[in-house]
Amino acid sequence: MQPQDHEQFAHALLPETTVDEFSRQEFVKSYKLHLASQVSPNTKVVYDTQIKPAFEKEHGRPPKNRHEIRKAMNGNNHYQTWSSLLRTSQEMMWKSCQVPVARQLDKLVSVAKAPTSAGGTLTLNPDLEIPRYHTAVDIHCQPGGYHTEMVKDDVAAGAIYDRGVYIYAMGQLGPMNDDIGGSIIAYLKETRADFAPKRILDLGCSAAHSTVPYKLHYPDAEVCGVDVAAPMLRYAHARSESLGVPIHLSQQNAEDMNFEDGSFDLIVSHILVHETSSAAFRKIMKECHRLLAPGGIVIHAETPAYKAMDDFDAFILDWDTYNNNEPFWSKSHEIDPPSAAKEAGFDPAKSFEAMAPSAYEAAKAKRTNVFQGGDFGGGGFWYLYGVQK
Ligand SMILES: C[S@@+](CC[C@H](N)C(=O)[O-])C[C@H]1O[C@@H](n2cnc3c(N)ncnc32)[C@H](O)[C@@H]1O
Repeated sequence: MQPQDHEQFAHALLPETTVDEFSRQEFVKSYKLHLASQVSPNTKVVYDTQIKPAFEKEHGRPPKNRHEIRKAMNGNNHYQTWSSLLRTSQEMMWKSCQVPVARQLDKLVSVAKAPTSAGGTLTLNPDLEIPRYHTAVDIHCQPGGYHTEMVKDDVAAGAIYDRGVYIYAMGQLGPMNDDIGGSIIAYLKETRADFAPKRILDLGCSAAHSTVPYKLHYPDAEVCGVDVAAPMLRYAHARSESLGVPIHLSQQNAEDMNFEDGSFDLIVSHILVHETSSAAFRKIMKECHRLLAPGGIVIHAETPAYKAMDDFDAFILDWDTYNNNEPFWSKSHEIDPPSAAKEAGFDPAKSFEAMAPSAYEAAKAKRTNVFQGGDFGGGGFWYLYGVQK
């Protein structure tokens, strides 16, 4: 079966939906698009015409940063309405994905356990301590987060996330949800055409949406992925095997992994950093320094850094920090790549930052061009940063 634009690819693990379940999911997707394209833009109008002038009148100056804008906007009815509707859409999204997964969980577990033949591997570590930054909060309001297991050999978190991310991004990550990995690959091909990594590691690989394309684009490379969450990895393994793509997945904390020194040429992460604490990120960067061979590269992909946008846009993109259980979102958008590289032992002069255009099918999707306002992926680019060893 070939992926169709604007439809998620129906691989063997994707939960089936009844007509009612599918309609409910489609409603959430349309509702999110409506909020991003029709309701969110008026928040800026309200700011420019009411909130900013009132602030200037009171303080004799404009707001200095996104925090002052947030405090001023918090009492505004239009902003409150958009914010409340967006939060509601997030809760509706998870629920619309949980219901079909709960209905067919036995089947999903048994499909995931069936023997496979693509040649990938799965190594779980039931003794791995799940970091507190996962257990203390249901990240982005995903019930139970990534790691929670309700039944033996559970894959529910993976199945819910796979469908949830597609709806969250309104299909803009492409039929395989792989746009972020594809965008790093396109960036590497564009900027380092001769770079041919032989061993690639994806940190926080989740359902391996973005891990799979590395094996497709560098077929001679050994591609590995780590994640702390067993339900994600079981699902990721079964999904990638069903796609015929051999990748090697293991349950590890990216802060402290069991691979040998200098054993990778390319280490990547896709929207991992904003979900780890600042302390964890520092340890992860040190691990990258240890694991990379000389000349090897680490690249993290995220939504744009706040320094690249004006304070109002940063305030809107920062919404997740205060309203969507993303406690590390704000800090992660202020990371200074040269300083992070230096602290981990790299030469800061070899650090880099780039805005990489969205690579794949998502580039064809109709964009709202606002990354913010609940339109994750809608900007049509990803912020990449990293360093070469
Ligand atoms: C937003 S998801 C990543 C999505 C995935 N990379 C993709 O592109 O589809 C973040 C993932 O990172 C994992 N994670 C967070 N902190 C981690 C850590 N310290 N070590 C390994 N995995 C971690 C979470 O369990 C979760 O699956």
